[in-house]
Amino acid sequence: MRKWPLVVLGIVIAVLIVAHLSRAQNPAPRVHAADDALALTPPMGWYPWNEFGQEPQNEKLIKEIVDALVSSGLKEAGYAYIGPDEGICFSRDARGKLTSNLERYPSGLRGLGDYIHRRGLKYALYTDAGTRTCSKAMPGAKDHEFEDMEAFAQWRADYLKVDWCNTEGQDVVESYTKLRDALHAAGRPIVYSLCSWGEGEPWKWAASVGNLWRTTGDICSPGRADWGNAMKVAAANEKLYEAAGPGHWNDPDMMIAGMDGLSEAQNRSFFSLWCMMAAPLMAGNDLRKMTTATVQILTNLEAIGINQDPLGIQGRIVRRDGKVEIWAGKRLFDGSQAVLVFNQGAGPAQVQVAWQDIGLAESEALYVRDLWTHQTAGPHRGGISVTVAPKDVALLRVSKTNPFPVPAIVIVDSYLVSLRAAGRGAQKLTGAVTVKTNGSDELPLWKVRPALPPWLSVAVTRNGKSQTLTNTVSTAGLKKGFYHALVRADNIEPVSGRPMSALYYDVDLEITGGARGRARD
Ligand code: GLA
Repeated sequence: MRKWPLVVLGIVIAVLIVAHLSRAQNPAPRVHAADDALALTPPMGWYPWNEFGQEPQNEKLIKEIVDALVSSGLKEAGYAYIGPDEGICFSRDARGKLTSNLERYPSGLRGLGDYIHRRGLKYALYTDAGTRTCSKAMPGAKDHEFEDMEAFAQWRADYLKVDWCNTEGQDVVESYTKLRDALHAAGRPIVYSLCSWGEGEPWKWAASVGNLWRTTGDICSPGRADWGNAMKVAAANEKLYEAAGPGHWNDPDMMIAGMDGLSEAQNRSFFSLWCMMAAPLMAGNDLRKMTTATVQILTNLEAIGINQDPLGIQGRIVRRDGKVEIWAGKRLFDGSQAVLVFNQGAGPAQVQVAWQDIGLAESEALYVRDLWTHQTAGPHRGGISVTVAPKDVALLRVSKTNPFPVPAIVIVDSYLVSLRAAGRGAQKLTGAVTVKTNGSDELPLWKVRPALPPWLSVAVTRNGKSQTLTNTVSTAGLKKGFYHALVRADNIEPVSGRPMSALYYDVDLEITGGARGRARD
């Protein structure tokens, strides 16, 4: 009898332990996107690892790729995030602070960011959650989480990939959660990209921690596109479709499309798969030497519209016939559906796609848009028949109505407004940021969030498909020195009031003592 209180106490303790453990593994659900409205559509950009690895990277290379991204038309198609991967080459100084390698990056990591921002692109940086980065050449963020995230914020990063090398003994959920808290403490809205290669099954918990998470190991070794491995990566990522959504994406790694060794059909297939999976579109090829066909593939706005669809649904395989896969399950914002027919076989395939295969009623009369030939057919009842060349795809959009809208694809002329005044007397200065869409769907008006510093005001005006954010600075009452503000604007969907995308840009103001100002950090 006297044992009962002990048994009850034991049960209570066990329940408390289980509750504690399950809390540790499932941090309170708090979707990142709800706070900062970042990555509401899959991030698009360029990252150097697949083509260059670590060694050849330096400021000159990254700037050349930035220029190629702009001149090739990739920027106009929505590619925005760019920066060094492990080639970032920082070190830690005697006081524990991360410092730029000025031999590799003579402008410093902040200067490289300014270059990228001035061209209307966003700055992507890299670190590791362990004690060292993968090559062991650089310090990881372990035990320096808060000061390192502060450094990334000061370098004006907009995106941070955090690798998982040299993390022996670390808990994956705790480590990435601590870094999230450190990023929040640093106060800059930064897209947070978890790179544990699927370790710890991030698709189960990372939606409340970061914006995207790698689901598999590396897609290739630097400089060597590996088609077979890419298909394994796609197969593993496909299964996780339920985890993806606005602000939290499965990441099957950077793209190999456009790298040496792949045919045009393989590039088209690869790109279509990544679009269908709502995967981040981080190009991994050398943008300075692309064929016309590669540029056309990477900038196909109708395919990108599938990837950037605001509903953020990840498509999946709904039928397999030998070497042919039919992908569907990707409803789009206008009520249409994306469908991918992928022929992995060695010969051409004649494929019947029934409306029932893709979850639609046989009696529906539907228009079919081929997103690679840009032709519309129909309306068809029951289904359609398509012929697909070997290793090639048909990427289709089916809809009750015609024409087919492409969602807003946001292009910005600059993410940095730099203003300078000599400090005698009050002055008014202005600098504009222009935003436009390359989609057929118009952008709702941007709404600037409050909490601007008293010296800055921002007005938004619309002119057709572009909008201008005019930043007016008043120097009255300001002393000599540097001032900085981060302007946040939301693109508000008129019906739900929910942000469709968020825009962040920096306003720098320098007030000099007279003729010449000091150099910035
Ligand atoms: C890991 C990542 C790669 C790349 C390298 C850098 O392997 O998965 O994407 O960042 O580290 O060393």
